Amino acid sequence: MKNIEFSFEDALIPQKKILKTAEKLNPEIKNMANAISKGYDDDRASINLSDDKSMLSKVKQNIKDKLRLKPEYLIVVGIGGSNLGTIAVQEAVLGKLYNQLNPSTKVLYADTVDPDFINGIIKLVKPILKKKGNIILNIISKSGTTTETIANSEVLIDSLRKYEKDFKNYVVVTSDKDSKLWNLAVRERFNVLEIPKKVGGRYSVFSPVGLFPLGLLGINIEHLLDGARSMRDTCINIDIKKNLAAISAAIQYMHYKGGKNISDLFLFSNDLESVGKWYRQLMAESLGKEFNKEGVRVNTGITPTVSIGSTDLHSMAQLYLGGPYDKLTTFVCVKNSNSHINVPSLEGYSELVYGIQGKNLTDIMDAILEGTKAAFRKGRRPFMEITLPDKSEYSIGQFLQFKMMEAIYLGYLLDVNPFDQPNVESYKKETRKILARQE
Ligand code: PA5
Repeated sequence: MKNIEFSFEDALIPQKKILKTAEKLNPEIKNMANAISKGYDDDRASINLSDDKSMLSKVKQNIKDKLRLKPEYLIVVGIGGSNLGTIAVQEAVLGKLYNQLNPSTKVLYADTVDPDFINGIIKLVKPILKKKGNIILNIISKSGTTTETIANSEVLIDSLRKYEKDFKNYVVVTSDKDSKLWNLAVRERFNVLEIPKKVGGRYSVFSPVGLFPLGLLGINIEHLLDGARSMRDTCINIDIKKNLAAISAAIQYMHYKGGKNISDLFLFSNDLESVGKWYRQLMAESLGKEFNKEGVRVNTGITPTVSIGSTDLHSMAQLYLGGPYDKLTTFVCVKNSNSHINVPSLEGYSELVYGIQGKNLTDIMDAILEGTKAAFRKGRRPFMEITLPDKSEYSIGQFLQFKMMEAIYLGYLLDVNPFDQPNVESYKKETRKILARQE
């Protein structure tokens, strides 16, 4: 399998300085390597998910059982870390138009409690249930007490049980062992899948959180994990020059210290848009912190933004090239698309745009990316570049693992805990109080 490539010639920081900063990560690289022998007993536990054969075989057994029911729809009920990774991988590998291309199992995501959206989901699946077709509900919540997820689960289970006598067989719950949701699922005799305690939501895509729904949709989850494992091994390399996550973290850190507190992931692939949304959560929740590890108020964080090439060149490029020098960009491109489309040479069109007739859309996209990079260079706008060989499970697994380890290394450099999210918890608590008061 081909590996993803990373280059930083245009980071606008001398290589020597980058390596010097990256070397500060040596203790954390050692911690990371040690974490491999600790299984799930370390905060960095997520890096071991790709080694867990028993988890994989349990997930595969569940997938096999549920596929026997020939589900026409899978509804993933979860929010934030409980669905962003799944959406990212599903759209990257199967395409954003997956449902419209009539696969045997379509997928819907019930995340927030928007009544019109949830009603839309019910409207879509009701005719299926009426004609005795099957749907699978995968309810995912690490804590088991997220307001939106529990509300949507109740609504959807209620719809399901109106049509399926045997509805319990169609529900799979993914949660921390012994969470309130887990215990309820066991009492209700739903199938349950466990999230290891120390694997946080935004690091959980390679746990049953992502593996069960993705495998059910036909994604090769072994290849996804192979990609993750190979990148994990690259990113625990003490030879800093070969450690992609450490180098990239060092560059982001140095630019942040130099006043660039926005990190834009500029994805030149439509199907990677949700990878961008996943990345936003990873960066925002891992690094946006009120206090550092010593308890001193720091109010730190790098603001992650996402752009899609070439679409956002027509909306954001003016700001990126003319606005303040407060951003570091990471361009992401895909070498081999799944499709090859040539622009035909229709009469008269070369007078509108010259030089595209007879060319492949990929070549045109490449030219736009090259043009964008040239403009960034001209304007002294720093950027890094990641090239995926393709959008295969292996490549996407590599990319996600790269970014997760980069976030952990950035947490170390910024001296914040990249694994907690106390302020997210605080809004959840306040919401629960308000709802309880209304009882
Ligand atoms: O990273 C986080 O902790 C959050 O974004 C959660 O993933 C999100 O709030 C959902 O939480 P849970 O999986 O507990 O329902």
